[in-house]
Amino acid sequence: MIEKIESLLEEVKTLLAADAKEVETLRIRYLGKKGVVNDLMSEFHNVPADRKREVGMKLNELKTAVQEKINALRQEMLTHEDDHLDLDLTRTPYPVKLGTRHPLSLVKNEIIDIFSRLGFSLASGPEVEDDWHVFSSMNFAPDHPARDMQDTFFVEQHPDIVLRTHTSSVQSRVMERQQPPIRVICPGRVYRNEVISARAHCFFHQVEGLYVDEDVSFTDLKQVLLTFAREMFGPDTKIRLRPSYFPFTEPSAEMDISCNICGGKGCNLCKNTGWVEILGCGMVDPNVLDANGIDSTKYKGYAFGMGVERIANLKYQVKDLRMFSENDVRFLDEFISAN
Ligand code: PHE
Repeated sequence: MIEKIESLLEEVKTLLAADAKEVETLRIRYLGKKGVVNDLMSEFHNVPADRKREVGMKLNELKTAVQEKINALRQEMLTHEDDHLDLDLTRTPYPVKLGTRHPLSLVKNEIIDIFSRLGFSLASGPEVEDDWHVFSSMNFAPDHPARDMQDTFFVEQHPDIVLRTHTSSVQSRVMERQQPPIRVICPGRVYRNEVISARAHCFFHQVEGLYVDEDVSFTDLKQVLLTFAREMFGPDTKIRLRPSYFPFTEPSAEMDISCNICGGKGCNLCKNTGWVEILGCGMVDPNVLDANGIDSTKYKGYAFGMGVERIANLKYQVKDLRMFSENDVRFLDEFISAN
């Protein structure tokens, strides 16, 4: 009899019912007057005295198990009935939480806004690029270290296809299809083979600027960048240009702005210098104009490239760069008021 009860216990575990009626049928089959459990009860007097205790306990176990199973099935039916009620199409819907714009999009849009007021239009190019647009057309020597696999992600080799390491590749894309006057900005994502940390990521965002026309001078560049800095960080912002080097500009410079956190007095962000670097710039190297089909004896140009994360950090003081790409809603929600 023990074996019989054991196998019934197993059976009970697997019981299923499609609706309340089926649950009731199951209840009658197991717990009804002429049901399985009662049948066993009536056989109980045949059990030898020395086994009565053991069999009695098993029988009780079975009874409880059936009862519990039936209760569980009933509960399930009730929940399903609730589901059914949810189909009331006249009910007010649950409130849907609106998303917010990502801080990097906010900053990027602000940059685009400022430059479009200055007459720049938008341009774009692919993130998976060939060597020509990223390096060769931008006057990188064949053995330039940026072409090394340490810095650049290669998608294919010979011919080299890479993830663009800067948006300067779009300069080349624009010049090859358009003659001056050219006045564009190109926002986009770029990739570098860096170890990810709070201060570096293997991808980030840049906004490139390019202006090519007759009689373009470094003064024009400086004035545009000063206007940008003041629009972005406030009218008291100062800029400073430090000589630098890029293969595609000559002369080249890096631009700092007076630290907008401490107002130039010195803090953690500006490493107590009062200045923070925000972009690279310079006069387009005549080699670049020629390589991209623009007559360098007739035209001149300036170009600049800035990091969007850098600028977002200055505006919002995000301490860890990784926050920008983790999609943590608690972080993103902090920008609701800026939306
Ligand atoms: N491409 C440069 C960089 O990624 C920035 C730059 C753009 C510098 C245009 C000069 C002119 O650092």
